[in-house]
Amino acid sequence: MPIVKVYPRTEVHFDEILTRLDHQCFPSDEIYQAGPQDHHWWIAFDEKRAVAFAGMRVDKNNRAFFCRAGVIKSHRGLGLHLALIRRRLSCCRRLGLDQAYTYTLFNNLASSKNLVRCGFHLSNYSTDRRLLWWTKQLT
Ligand SMILES: CC(C)(COP(=O)(O)OP(=O)(O)OC[C@H]1O[C@@H](n2cnc3c(N)ncnc32)[C@H](O)[C@@H]1OP(=O)(O)O)[C@@H](O)C(=O)NCCC(=O)NCCS
Repeated sequence: MPIVKVYPRTEVHFDEILTRLDHQCFPSDEIYQAGPQDHHWWIAFDEKRAVAFAGMRVDKNNRAFFCRAGVIKSHRGLGLHLALIRRRLSCCRRLGLDQAYTYTLFNNLASSKNLVRCGFHLSNYSTDRRLLWWTKQLT
């Protein structure tokens, strides 16, 4: 399935798609707030239908924070999340970043599996142990 890079997020059409996907994939969360210029976003399309998305923000320490990724229910289990991690890592390398990092909920096995597959290491957990932090060294 084609994955389209959307950066910056200024075009209203893409902004609407990302907001809708965020709501579909994280129905009980607040919509992720991102400025139009400081994040990179990707959207996967099945024909004309937007079915998955992912984002990352480059911080001032030359590291990428993988902020959000989601796949709509009908398209889970097809490897889209894995593809979106790989796309973001390629972008990190092109930008010459030193490290990528992210977090998952402790029970999100699909995400954890994909992060490990892409070379991320478990680096920390939150004090309540609900969040796992993952990092991958790029340089
Ligand atoms: C988590 C999520 C992104 C995974 O997307 P996906 O495209 O379905 O993931 P993949 O197809 O790459 O599957 C990854 C692996 O996890 C496995 N998997 C999927 N759901 C699983 C589950 N509930 N329990 C255990 N393993 C699971 C898959 O079988 C696959 O493993 P395999 O390749 O060895 O068969 C998707 O389920 C989602 O959007 N969930 C809601 C939002 C969310 O949690 N986002 C991630 C925040 S970190």
